[in-house]
Amino acid sequence: MKIGVFDSGLGGLVITKSLIERLPEYDYFYLGDTKHLPYGEKTSGRILKYTLDSLKYLISQNCKLIIIACNTATSIALRYIQQKFIPEYAPHVKVLGVVIPTVEKAVEDEVSKVGVIATSATIKSHIYQTELKKLSPHIKVQELATPQLVPLIENNNYEYMDNLIEDYLSAFSEIDSLILGCTHYPLIKNYCRHILPQKTKVISQDEFIGEKLQDYLKKHPEIEEKLGKDSSRNFCVTQKSPQSYKVADYLFPNLTIKEVSY
Ligand code: DGL
Repeated sequence: MKIGVFDSGLGGLVITKSLIERLPEYDYFYLGDTKHLPYGEKTSGRILKYTLDSLKYLISQNCKLIIIACNTATSIALRYIQQKFIPEYAPHVKVLGVVIPTVEKAVEDEVSKVGVIATSATIKSHIYQTELKKLSPHIKVQELATPQLVPLIENNNYEYMDNLIEDYLSAFSEIDSLILGCTHYPLIKNYCRHILPQKTKVISQDEFIGEKLQDYLKKHPEIEEKLGKDSSRNFCVTQKSPQSYKVADYLFPNLTIKEVSY
């Protein structure tokens, strides 16, 4: 049985790369729903439907543990998936998101004034604010939707990135840390680090998600022992696009990506 990684596009390959680097022995199945990208500007109903369709596909491909790398899908759909969908549809499968490990990391880093950038849907859900305050009630959180970033990153267009990020980040006042709450943003973390004062921490999911999964597997041997360990890799999307392959190629040179429909 495999570890499934789901994203709305190819940004989740960043997360997959860090999972594979940390835990190379497992079998991975990556699915990017590129046909419906971006999720971040869609309604909750659409995001839930596309996420459920994608999870059903991953389950049909023998995924026992599924990581929803997409912050938008995690924000909108994870609670329903864990409480309703999985118990009825596939009780043997575990589905995890990326928001909880990210807020845990922020709290471990003892931050107190946090900025969050993410898609419009993630920001509207206020999931980061809610989860941060559950762990640390006095924490101050400022959330900002940054919808122009994903299309530029997905199209590998970095020409005006500096100016755009500088513009966005100028909305924050006196933050001591910035959470990059989107699969694609690890690819622009260096821009953020360059623009923000040196003492501001930039919390980027690629830098700790592998370790978090490793901890999870240690605590859950009943899942770990069912996972295949042949280092097999499958990478699938719902629609091929030549531009986004540049992103994929940068992360995994000579990657074979299959188009699937469901
Ligand atoms: N994967 C999405 C996220 O992490 C970003 C791309 C999208 O809007 O679909 O929020």
